[in-house]
Amino acid sequence: MKATELAQGVYWVGAIDWNLRDYHGYTLPGTTYNAYLVVGEEKTTLIDTCYPGFEDQVLGRVASVIDPKKIDVIIANHIEVDHSGGLPKIAKMLPGVPIYCTEVAVKGFARHYNTKDWNLKVVKTGETLDLGKKTLVFLEAPMLHWPDSMFTYLAEEKILFPNDAFGQHVASSERFDDELGKDVALGHAKKFFANLIIPLAPKVLKKLGEVGDLGIGIRMIAPSHGVIWRSYAADIVTSYVEWSKGVSKDKVTIVYDTMHGSTDMMAKALADGAMDGGLEVKVCLLKDGRYEGCHRSDIVAEMLDSKALLVGSPTLEDEVLPTVAGFLSYLRGLRPGRLAEKKVGFAFGSHGGHGGAVDQIAGDMKKAGIEVIDGSMEVYFRPDADEREACYRAGLALAERVKRV
Ligand code: FEO
Repeated sequence: MKATELAQGVYWVGAIDWNLRDYHGYTLPGTTYNAYLVVGEEKTTLIDTCYPGFEDQVLGRVASVIDPKKIDVIIANHIEVDHSGGLPKIAKMLPGVPIYCTEVAVKGFARHYNTKDWNLKVVKTGETLDLGKKTLVFLEAPMLHWPDSMFTYLAEEKILFPNDAFGQHVASSERFDDELGKDVALGHAKKFFANLIIPLAPKVLKKLGEVGDLGIGIRMIAPSHGVIWRSYAADIVTSYVEWSKGVSKDKVTIVYDTMHGSTDMMAKALADGAMDGGLEVKVCLLKDGRYEGCHRSDIVAEMLDSKALLVGSPTLEDEVLPTVAGFLSYLRGLRPGRLAEKKVGFAFGSHGGHGGAVDQIAGDMKKAGIEVIDGSMEVYFRPDADEREACYRAGLALAERVKRV
């Protein structure tokens, strides 16, 4: 097991989790827990650790550079277990080693681990740590991803270690963006942003502004998941700005589930109208026990750059189908209304009694910050030819509306 050198004296020493397929409801093709070793003339520091059970990978890669017992300092950018899970073992191996983190992280660590013997050192924005011809600068970044988070910047090499920000959930043998490929790396970053960062979008813009105000150059971005941005650092920053603003295409994402095919017929007619009206269309039947379908974590990545979202469900026992209810719960949590450019949409579905699902969906879409526009429709049992035509026309009208924005 070898470390990967990013710059003179700076190494990736992380762990690859090839087998992880679900991380609190986010489907992923494995991931990496990136840790970094920075070797200064006087001190050597380890930035972040890994999920519990992956310590041997981290320590093995450190050992390809130096004896792990020679680590002088640990930087803990974030307390979430995928980055701090290795700390108990490594802190025990290095008694008294200073662990630099934010004040909130000190409280968080105490709720996760027995920190009685940990030498935690609180740092604030602008404070520095001199490693000997290598200087680390700390920047608190609350809510990117949790209240405790911070970024660390290596001034001489202009490398930013922003932990979760700019990360991607992907397991690969490639360590750099240009090795994985720009579009593939940005695609994984987009899904990561859609599933984890949307509700934090205003903070992203503020933090990027603060980083800009510091006047620091960034040559490389080394996040805590996925590949390191060395060729496309500017591209991922630009993408984060655009995603945070909600910059979207003339595109609609249609998400639904169906009981006996009626809501499916409505979805297809809506899609035909939107396509004929000139929109890019993604049709996403929700994954459940019967259909392969689409997973909600992929659907929200499609939604991120869509100007419109349509959600459909038949009424089941006066409620939306559980699959759709699950999606709506996820959507409310992500709050796409926090993106600067708002999305529009409406609800649709069939029923065999007195209906109700469509109003519930529209209510949840509003709670998520989506502007519900004219077009919602609920049909009795199967949509007849006139109702299918009405769906088609609603798709056309949506296209007209979206293309005007
Ligand atoms: Fe990758 Fe917030 O943890």
